[in-house]
Amino acid sequence: MTSCRICGGPVVEFFDFGRQPVSDVFPAPADIGTEHFYRLAVGFCTDCTMVQQLEEVDREKMFPADYPYRSSGSSLMRRHFEETAAHYLATELNGPDPFYVEIGCNDGIMLNSVRAAGVRHLGVDPAEHAALAAGATGSRVHIGFFEEPAARRIREAEGPAQLVFSANTISHIAYIDSVFAGARALLAEGGVFVFEDRYLGDIVTHTYFDQVYDEHFYLFSVRSVQAMARQYGFDLIDVEHLSVHGGTMRYTTARAGERTVRPAVARWLAHEHDRKLSEQATYASFGAKVESHCAELRALLTRLKDEGKRVVGYGATCKSATVTNYCGIGPDLISAVCDSTPDKQHRVTPGSHIPILPPEHFSSPYPDYAVLFAWNHAEEIMAKEQEFKAAGGRWILYVPDVHLA
Ligand code: SAM
Ligand code: TMP
Ligand code: ZN
Repeated sequence: MTSCRICGGPVVEFFDFGRQPVSDVFPAPADIGTEHFYRLAVGFCTDCTMVQQLEEVDREKMFPADYPYRSSGSSLMRRHFEETAAHYLATELNGPDPFYVEIGCNDGIMLNSVRAAGVRHLGVDPAEHAALAAGATGSRVHIGFFEEPAARRIREAEGPAQLVFSANTISHIAYIDSVFAGARALLAEGGVFVFEDRYLGDIVTHTYFDQVYDEHFYLFSVRSVQAMARQYGFDLIDVEHLSVHGGTMRYTTARAGERTVRPAVARWLAHEHDRKLSEQATYASFGAKVESHCAELRALLTRLKDEGKRVVGYGATCKSATVTNYCGIGPDLISAVCDSTPDKQHRVTPGSHIPILPPEHFSSPYPDYAVLFAWNHAEEIMAKEQEFKAAGGRWILYVPDVHLA
């Protein structure tokens, strides 16, 4: 029995995706076979309810200097972070000489708005190439992993922070005790540590099984984050549900007793109770749906291949690593995946080895079908690629179930 990374309680495994590669490292065709694989399995702590992976990938393998993901590739996400920055500039950061620290700033999608407002700031990210992109615009970045010693050094050099913010990163950090200890050392009195991550409630309700991949070590719920915050001497003082990435929760925490707990926390706890989010039966039924959706997707792609149809993928996402490797989908079923990220192009998808091509490939000529792996950007991509449907093409989606659009 594995012990919970948060509370030491028993973790009961509920789904095994088998052998899976690191999802955000795209081999060049000559490097096929050099991928790092591990067993991707998820379990549920029967004490604190935290959903977590049973095996861990080394952080240097997941977040190397040339980590290819660039947050700013999505106009929806650019707008989301501009609005988020504006919100905090008007609230937590509106006192005299505030200091803002961001964990996992990537290419500066949020950090740059804080810098542009003239606020003291520091981004922390180990992905050197992405962090240098943020630095190139004039934002201050420390290239490295945020953890307690790094946080202490920042505090000594720069003073306390009113806001420590992080998006789509805290759930990636198995050694989260060190992150909370760092936030504790770094925060000003009354300051807040805010993080937003994919929400377990949406993943379970809509069978978003492809949200399970190496980087998402934890799948947070309000209840598990509240327990985790307590464990580390923090209160969960507010939560806000956001629509981005298919359903995200923003968690606001503060050192225990320093801030008033907002009513949204109790409301969401009750909601999670009603949705049976802490019951093991919920996870058994999630697993059964994953298996049937994968079988259906594979059957559809096999039928289309037999009919001589051309099928490509859209978006070489981390999510697609789980889908292609778990469902057994390779270049025989999907001839290429189009993606706008330069560092992914002319490489192959990890484990499944589907060639990745620039988006221009999509229309020359249009395929018969396109599997939308970047379904969280559906609106933006479908608007951009309107002519695909006009030319008779159909989108294939596999969440919340397999269907055509
Ligand atoms: N915040 C951006 C967003 O929401 O689009 C980037 C999210 S990206 C999925 C995760 C980022 O976290 C990567 O740039 C990665 O290098 C960074 N990261 C991973 N572990 C970290 C740590 N311990 N400290 C700081 N950054 C970390
Ligand atoms: P994400 O779902 O992890 O944000 O990744 C989205 C991927 O899809 C990323 O590799 C960039 C790619 N993408 C496109 O190719 N075209 C687009 O219009 C958008 C929004 C994303
Ligand atoms: Zn636990």
